[in-house]
Amino acid sequence: MKIIEVKDYQEMSQKAAAYVIEKVQKSPRLNLGLATGGTPVGLYQHLINDHQKNQTSYEGITTFNLDEYIGLSAGDPNSYRYYMNDKLFNYIDINQANTFIPNGDVNDPQKEASAYEKLIENHGGIDLQILGIGSNGHIGFNEPGTSFQSTTHIVDLTETTRKANARFFDSLEAVPKRAITMGIGTIMKSKEILLLISGESKSEAFYKLLHGEVSENFPASVLKQHPAVTIIADQAASIKVNVLQ
Ligand code: PGA
Repeated sequence: MKIIEVKDYQEMSQKAAAYVIEKVQKSPRLNLGLATGGTPVGLYQHLINDHQKNQTSYEGITTFNLDEYIGLSAGDPNSYRYYMNDKLFNYIDINQANTFIPNGDVNDPQKEASAYEKLIENHGGIDLQILGIGSNGHIGFNEPGTSFQSTTHIVDLTETTRKANARFFDSLEAVPKRAITMGIGTIMKSKEILLLISGESKSEAFYKLLHGEVSENFPASVLKQHPAVTIIADQAASIKVNVLQ
């Protein structure tokens, strides 16, 4: 894993954007894996600014998001479809028909999960996957204990994750209990991975990622077995790594 340490959230977002923009310019038909949550918001803002200023085009780009809550409609402000439209897609020249997110508002989420896995395969796989990390080491919504071989599947969200995400909802009760997520096996098939880590609340997870064992109890540890992972981490996230190494 290649590690780029940066000062703060702003610099992480800038560096991540520069990384993505370079890939998009080199490969105008890139399959880009995207993430939601607090971490990539700055990255998306920089992509928008660059699109407006430099006209970087996303016309030929296809995107696949990691996950979606089950039970929220696309129009629900807390759905990840809404988030992606609102934070990125509505402001760049991407063809909305080429932006894929699991649909959590279906009668048969299991069927949706299998179809999503096939969809990624049929498009030739993901070239570059953007990832965040949960404080419990989750990637996507793959909570501790998830098989490293897992494909897109349905998960019961842990209390830790629901509490962490409750800040976006009116109450903890309003946070869905289930989600559809790319599996760890799905993520590992990406040709390249860009992991963003920001803030002191992630410092323990970052330390464990670097110094802990590879174990299904800490999902992100699988990334040590991937041949092309770049981590951009800010100083706050690196605090334990720098003190304890
Ligand atoms: P966050 O979530 O970016 O909102 O901290 C990251 C994650 O849970 O994967």
